Amino acid sequence: MVNQIGINPSSQRTSQGKLMKGCRGWIMEKSYGGKIMAEKLITYFSASGVTEKKAKELAAITGAEILQIEPEQPYTSADLNWRDKKSRSSREMQDDSSRPAIKNRNVDLSGYSSVYIGFPIWWGIAPKVINTFIDENDLKGKDIVIFATSGGSGISHAVNSLKATYPELRIVRSKLLSGRITEDI
Ligand SMILES: Cc1cc2nc3c(=O)[nH]c(=O)nc-3n(C[C@H](O)[C@H](O)[C@H](O)COP(=O)(O)O)c2cc1C
Repeated sequence: MVNQIGINPSSQRTSQGKLMKGCRGWIMEKSYGGKIMAEKLITYFSASGVTEKKAKELAAITGAEILQIEPEQPYTSADLNWRDKKSRSSREMQDDSSRPAIKNRNVDLSGYSSVYIGFPIWWGIAPKVINTFIDENDLKGKDIVIFATSGGSGISHAVNSLKATYPELRIVRSKLLSGRITEDI
C-alpha cells in the first residue's frame, strides 16, 4: 500500500492525536474503533498549475487532506499541445482505453468517507490519468465530489462521461471552479 497523503498545513494534531481544522477549530477526524478517520480527501491532477491552486484553496477552506495525482511520466508542453493531433495528450484523449501510468496506485483510502477528484477539462472531459486513478484505487462506498478548471467548457459533459464509464461511482456533487471557492462545492 502506498500512502502519499499530505497533512493539510492548516490542520494540527491535538494531544489525543486527532486532527483539528486550523481555520475553525472543528475536529475533522472521527475515531472508529480506535482508528482515526479523516472525512475528506482532496485529490487532483494538474498539468499547468491552475487546478492545483484551486485544490489547495479548497483544502485550506475545508481543512481536508490533499493528494496530487501524479503521472509516472510528467506532461511536457509539447505533450499538452491540443492543436497537434499527434501530441501525447491528443493521442490519449482519442483512445478510450488509454490509461497513462500514475504514481498513486492502491492509495490507502480507508479513512475517508468523501473523496474529491479534481482535474483540468481536456477535450471536454477528464484527462485519462483520472480514469487510471479511479481504476487503480478503491473508491467503493465513497462520496465522490468532482471539480474541474477549464478554458471555458462546462463540467457536465466530463461528469456524464465519468458516470457512463463508472456507473458504480457515487458522484454526489460536481462544480467547475472558475470563481471564488466556497466550502460546499
Ligand atoms: C490537452 C488540453 C486540452 C484542453 N481541452 C479543453 C477543453 O476541451 N475545453 C476547455 O475549456 N479547456 C480545455 N483546456 C484548457 C484547460 O482545461 C485549462 O487551461 C485548465 O485550467 C488547465 O488546468 P491545469 O493548469 O491544472 O492543467 C485544455 C488544455 C489542454 C492542455
